[in-house]
Amino acid sequence: MITRLTDRWIGRHAEPQLAALRAVDGLRPMTVVTGGSRGIGFALARRFAKAGRHIALVARDKPTLDRATAEIASDYPVKVLPIALDVTAIDAAERLDAELRTAGYYLETLVNNAGIGLSGPFIDHAPDEIDRLISLNITALTRLTRHALPAMLARGYGGILNVASLGGLIPGPNQAAYYASKAYVVSLTRAIAAENAGRGVRLMALAPGPVDTGFHHAMGAELSYYRQLMVALSARQVAFEAYIAYRLGTHLYVPGILGKLMQVAVWIIPHALLLPLMGWLLQRREERPWHDTDHHNT
Ligand SMILES: NC(=O)c1ccc[n+]([C@@H]2O[C@H](COP(=O)([O-])OP(=O)(O)OC[C@H]3O[C@@H](n4cnc5c(N)ncnc54)[C@H](OP(=O)(O)O)[C@@H]3O)[C@@H](O)[C@H]2O)c1
Repeated sequence: MITRLTDRWIGRHAEPQLAALRAVDGLRPMTVVTGGSRGIGFALARRFAKAGRHIALVARDKPTLDRATAEIASDYPVKVLPIALDVTAIDAAERLDAELRTAGYYLETLVNNAGIGLSGPFIDHAPDEIDRLISLNITALTRLTRHALPAMLARGYGGILNVASLGGLIPGPNQAAYYASKAYVVSLTRAIAAENAGRGVRLMALAPGPVDTGFHHAMGAELSYYRQLMVALSARQVAFEAYIAYRLGTHLYVPGILGKLMQVAVWIIPHALLLPLMGWLLQRREERPWHDTDHHNT
């Protein structure tokens, strides 16, 4: 009932075009989740599948993708399509469309979730590492969004859920490029949500605080104080809350009570005080002996 009302509100200015509707005639709608093979993406994919959506999981590692596909397909009576694809490839959007069309589907909902982090002082990262982060967290997400949105608007329905981070609401010393990339995701998503309000397409930035996945280990941040001191949500809890917020037409959503308190703290505490604290929380702890040794040697 509530979601039917929100559907009406979200589509209050929608102007579906016949040609756009005909273009997907005979195809079935699909929810595409980038980075859907594990972590938050996998949990979001499961949540959408639970709601009866057909799912395409996109990731690079085929065995992990196949395992995730089999698990969702065995739990929910929906089509689950694995697509082994690096979303930073220049032709990723076209390849995605082609894979869906061949299987008899079209992109109705896009979950831009694939992302990587970088931990440590900005000047310690090789330029290539920063390029890789920008090309996944910013460029690929932007390209996919730009590719998918016009067709959704022309049909007058659909949605894009961009996975940002609580880190997108504040600068993050010692994870500077990562936090900055997520600030971009929050800003882009909220801006295009405002540009297209009422045209039938849901646009939401999801901004979780720490979540228990392999993400922190992958960027060498597992020993940082934020991992020790801040309670992490499960990916499942994030997906549960995110799905409700998305259905209700929210534009920016921070899951968890602690996350919401931190969202308020970021607004009210002066950044001159907050940034040194953030830098301390995000510091890579296993790096310190190296710096100490460096100082003794010089
Ligand atoms: N974990 C957290 O605390 C946290 C908090 C806030 C926001 N987030 C954001 O949430 C998103 C998911 O994080 P997570 O913790 O679930 O990470 P994760 O467990 O490391 O999973 C990342 C997923 O992205 C896929 N991926 C990575 N590079 C890709 C590429 N180039 N092309 C296609 N797929 C790619 C991975 O599969 P392959 O490696 O096989 O490609 C995997 O499925 C990220 O955007 C992250 O920034 C995470």
